[in-house]
Amino acid sequence: MSEKFYVTTPIYYVNDKPHIGHAYTTILADVLSRYHRMNGDATFFLTGTDEHGQKVQKAAVEHGMTEQEQCDTTVVRFQELWEKLGISNDDFIRTTEARHKNVVRKILQDLYDRDLIYKAEYKGCYCVPCERFFTDKDLNEEKTCPECGRPTNEIVESNYFFKMGQYQQWLIDYIKEHPKFILPDYRANETLGFLKKPLADLCISRPKSRLAWGIELPFDKDYVCYVWFDALVNYISGAGYGSNDAEFKKWWPASFHLIGKDILTTHTVYWPTMLKAIGVEMPESIFAHGWWLTGQNKMSKSLGNVVNPMEMAERYGVDAFRFFLLAEMSLGQDASFSEDAFIEKYNSNLANDLGNLLSRIVKMTVKQFGGIIPSPTEENDDDKELKSAAIKAVEVMKSAVPGMKLNSGIEEVMNAVRAGNRYIEKTAPWTLAKSGDTERLGTVMYTAAEALRFVSVLLYPIMPSKMTELRKALGINTPEVNMKELEKWGGLVPGSKMNDSGSLFQRICITEKAPETAPQSQAQTPDSDAGLVSIDDFFKTQLKTAKVVHAEKIDGADKLLKLQIDIGGEKRQIVAGVAQYYTPEEIIGKTIVVVANLKSAKIRGIDSQGMLLAAKKGKGLKLITVDGEIDSGSSVG
Ligand code: MSP
Repeated sequence: MSEKFYVTTPIYYVNDKPHIGHAYTTILADVLSRYHRMNGDATFFLTGTDEHGQKVQKAAVEHGMTEQEQCDTTVVRFQELWEKLGISNDDFIRTTEARHKNVVRKILQDLYDRDLIYKAEYKGCYCVPCERFFTDKDLNEEKTCPECGRPTNEIVESNYFFKMGQYQQWLIDYIKEHPKFILPDYRANETLGFLKKPLADLCISRPKSRLAWGIELPFDKDYVCYVWFDALVNYISGAGYGSNDAEFKKWWPASFHLIGKDILTTHTVYWPTMLKAIGVEMPESIFAHGWWLTGQNKMSKSLGNVVNPMEMAERYGVDAFRFFLLAEMSLGQDASFSEDAFIEKYNSNLANDLGNLLSRIVKMTVKQFGGIIPSPTEENDDDKELKSAAIKAVEVMKSAVPGMKLNSGIEEVMNAVRAGNRYIEKTAPWTLAKSGDTERLGTVMYTAAEALRFVSVLLYPIMPSKMTELRKALGINTPEVNMKELEKWGGLVPGSKMNDSGSLFQRICITEKAPETAPQSQAQTPDSDAGLVSIDDFFKTQLKTAKVVHAEKIDGADKLLKLQIDIGGEKRQIVAGVAQYYTPEEIIGKTIVVVANLKSAKIRGIDSQGMLLAAKKGKGLKLITVDGEIDSGSSVG
């Protein structure tokens, strides 16, 4: 059954250009929206910019511009980036737009009229360089600024306050009664922890004498509205509140407010109490994701380690960048960004696994069937295994999207891709072609291509352009992509024509970290380098860590052990000639290194899907293991 889905991102300050944190939340919202649209759900995706307040005013002064000029020039950088990154937002709200300011003013006036906003003296310590106010609870005994450590000045200022404190118990109860309201659940606990202290009323004004760039209070022209009180309202003003009731009724309550973990209190305390005061229903879920770090460090301008998303997308392609961000971050937790990790993931998952599978299927179908997709005949166990890997990926992804576990969904799709490559190795279509078994060859090609069709739908929201390309290569030219396509296995139409349009993901050469991808000709070794391999050739071999979960001797083969290994959640069996050096007991539990993309083989009639690495000299042999704890399935190279 289709439903409605309304998702928001934070609105971004226009004091500086966008960075990876902004790109991440926006891509996440985009991917969720695309999944919902693909599901047939009525979807509304709102993003925008936060254009008032001190940060923007300060940037304007630094750049010698008026505040509005500062907003107008910076907003374009966000809008251009969203276009570049393929963001499919339905609306873009700027807080300097009349449609937003009018709603904020209406709310302020209404709360003032109902005595929910009052004027009082505000006593606090002001840090002039940081331009920030602190109350006693923020300060140490010396009353130095918690931000910069410099002395603060005590000042008394008249201001307007929203009676937030009176909603404290209601909010605690609401959070406890609605386990999906704040996600992940540990963030709900964080907010409940914050609410253990008495909740003060919220100062919602700034005197113009101190900060003039904001929405003027409708009941006092000497004040502007506090930027957060103004900004949060975008989630309803952008959905028609106060201007288009039918539209608002259609979309509200929001399904998800996506935010970074640093803006939890404003979203889970200020915003719900504001909504409660104006009598508007709560959003369904506020989801706080973690931080993108550089190594172990926070990104910051002063450290010069801020990742520019525009550059990354230009250098490596938009879709690969989107894929990396979503595959790499477990939602809720911090993740570390590095270009090396990006290249590694790109080469292994996209170039080797996915690109390679497509190219094998298309090339073989073109060669053996003139590119015409053959009809499958009877299904054997190998075919069924691949089919169930694809169907499992659908199931996992279907629960991963609402469960905000996109990285697990992606991993399951990649497992299906790897199962596709194993299938090709096992069924050996080139041998079928040589022996003239066209019927079986046709079934193999069809089955592998059908599995890729499943993959193309499941990864479409993450890599819309590349998946459209992949579908075209498979001969699927429908402009719409829909989850309904995955209701049955066998949707690929025999008789349609594949297109060999070249490689989907060119390998990136890690030594260069450069935009150029290594051209095929470079892989040829020049004469003077006889015996050497290029880095590109080397990376054709995928080395991965694997945990040995079971080992046993093989009857009649005293040099061999049969091992069951786990490579990042994927179970495999390998046969290794190590029985004279290790007993099964000694080897179980070790994290070893294996060649993960080796064609499977039969050794003494037993399937072996990979090869372990060991150092050998004379009569000695030692397994290659890793220096400490690391997840199985980690890349080695
Ligand atoms: N304008 C406010 C939001 C108002 S919403 C009603 C704001 N803007 S911001 O531009 O400073 O930040 C926007 C978002 O970027 C926040 O969710 C923040 O968590 C996120 N990120 C900033 N740096 C980040 C990373 N390094 N990694 C991930 N997200 C981070 O706050």
